[in-house]
Amino acid sequence: MMNIKTRRTIRKYNQQPITDELLNQLLEDSARTQTMGNLQLYSVIVTRDEEMKKRLAPFHFNQPMVTEAPVVLTICADFRRTTDWCEARKATPGYDNLLSYQNAATDALLYAQTFSNLAEEAGLGICFLGTTVYMTQGIIDTLKLPALVMPVATLTVGWPDEEPALTDRLPLEAFVHQETYQPYSAERIDNLYEYKESLPENKAFVEQNSKETLAQVFTDCRYTKDANEAMSITLAESLFKQGFLSSPQICSSLPILEVRPDVLECDVVRFQNKREKWVAFVGLYEGYPYEIFTGLMDDEEGIMLPKSVSSGRIIKHTSRNGQKRYDFQFENKRGYKTTVEGLSEKFNPEYWNYAKLISGVLRYRMPIDHVIKLVSSLELDSDNINSWTTGVVRALKRYQPNAPLEEE
Ligand SMILES: Cc1cc2nc3c(=O)[nH]c(=O)nc-3n(C[C@H](O)[C@H](O)[C@H](O)COP(=O)(O)O)c2cc1C
Repeated sequence: MMNIKTRRTIRKYNQQPITDELLNQLLEDSARTQTMGNLQLYSVIVTRDEEMKKRLAPFHFNQPMVTEAPVVLTICADFRRTTDWCEARKATPGYDNLLSYQNAATDALLYAQTFSNLAEEAGLGICFLGTTVYMTQGIIDTLKLPALVMPVATLTVGWPDEEPALTDRLPLEAFVHQETYQPYSAERIDNLYEYKESLPENKAFVEQNSKETLAQVFTDCRYTKDANEAMSITLAESLFKQGFLSSPQICSSLPILEVRPDVLECDVVRFQNKREKWVAFVGLYEGYPYEIFTGLMDDEEGIMLPKSVSSGRIIKHTSRNGQKRYDFQFENKRGYKTTVEGLSEKFNPEYWNYAKLISGVLRYRMPIDHVIKLVSSLELDSDNINSWTTGVVRALKRYQPNAPLEEE
């Protein structure tokens, strides 16, 4: 029987398999945990396949448990199923927002914890992987998670092949407050952390990392400001892509890059515009549109792209006299690069100033839906420019959360 007083994380597992019967029983029983509105706002992806484990591992910093455990569970906040259910029942769902994500994430974590308790009670060993929320996009793509599904926790599960020492915990008075929150004076901090800091393993940690204090091991090595900020952006982007953040929310959280870097990754978007073939090159910064070049796909004029090219980079050149030129570069399947020079000149010069204006708006992170509204509302004289603005709108629509793709 599992005893909470002696439970510990298990990171090494023996070869004994976990039967489907046991796993399914645990997965089913865990659903007895509390859940918002009894909606069960979670999904669990079971990974047993070695190849799938190998594909997941890099998104967990290659922690060995991912490939070594017989079972890896990715527990997701899931408003997709509930949304589909509502739509199939003449009910209009409103769950594509941050609050709904928080609720679904809470459900998913409660489920994960209940599963952990039951699995440990059955004699299994568990390791909770917080890395799940560090590189979410890779996990989303690997597990094919649709909109309104976000991975929040991973549990590696197996029969224990180690008995690690119990880890320390802060005393009760460190985290329990009677009636109102009691601030932590420097003296209280000294008392509460004295035991933890005195432990030989923690002292060794400080020494190995050449630090002065244990806290510095956390701030300077394990969970740094830079890494947290960078991963906050990718997390916000995933929440945006999965449809849990509306674009004004994400836009206000993205950094603004005033000076365009020399090289920007870009998407190539092909689409029909009034029966003509058009192409757009959308320069991306942190996965979000930063600039756009679009116009008629004109083989004569030199935009000759193999059909398979869907991304590349836009490279800025500044000549001695300060004139700027933008080139598009892509790699073919064998890794050879081709550069299409003078992207800006390939398209009708009439569009150029409008493109500059729209790119300016994008780079200051005006939410995409507003950019689309703005461009759609332009009333311009020539037919040419009007069909160009329609093209811009088409190309930008794919960056709206939950937007259906409108390509080709
Ligand atoms: C949010 C969260 C994230 C965690 N991430 C990892 C992880 O990525 N790798 C790992 O080995 N353990 C991870 N753990 C396990 C903790 O390291 C472990 O629970 C803690 O050190 C206490 O040890 P114990 O569980 O053995 O008592 C995580 C635990 C939590 C709750």
